[in-house]
Amino acid sequence: MKRALFVAGALVLGISAVAAQDPIAARKALMKDTGKNAGAGAAMVRGEAPFDLAKAKAIFVVFQDTATKAPGLFPDSAKAGEDTAALPKIWESKADFDAKFVKLGADAKAAEASVTDLDSFKTAFSGVTKNCGGCHELYRLKK
Ligand code: HEC
Repeated sequence: MKRALFVAGALVLGISAVAAQDPIAARKALMKDTGKNAGAGAAMVRGEAPFDLAKAKAIFVVFQDTATKAPGLFPDSAKAGEDTAALPKIWESKADFDAKFVKLGADAKAAEASVTDLDSFKTAFSGVTKNCGGCHELYRLKK
């Protein structure tokens, strides 16, 4: 657990260092890592990976971290370029876009506190990950 936290911390630091010069690359890397964690959660939900309470909680911690970091990675200067899938609508509705990250963070925090076993994880995970699709549906280019 300690080691997992350290690795997550190192990743986050690396991402912040990149963010200053290149917010597009930084947000894509942040979302990619978030997606990997969501994949690990989905594997536990489907029974393809054994349920592990520490890992389950760590996934929700990653989502909270994403929610904190992501809004700062969509500055006006990074609307286009580098194959970004971010839609221009983000900057037309920045308050709503940012609010969706606040909600992701709050839901992930509540989920981290509530999960005790596989059943509670299934419920919490499906609730929290609705935030992912809800935002992508509106603000991410469909490929
Ligand atoms: C408030 C909006 C928002 C929320 C919430 C959100 N995302 Fe995203 N996500 C985006 C946007 C915008 C992009 C496109 C970024 C770009 O290409 O510049 C993206 C891209 C991605 C990508 C593709 C990354 C790449 O380029 O390889 C993955 C994977 C992803 N998100 C996973 C998630 C998961 C999992 C969650 C929930 C835990 C989540 N996202 C929550 C807005 C959001």
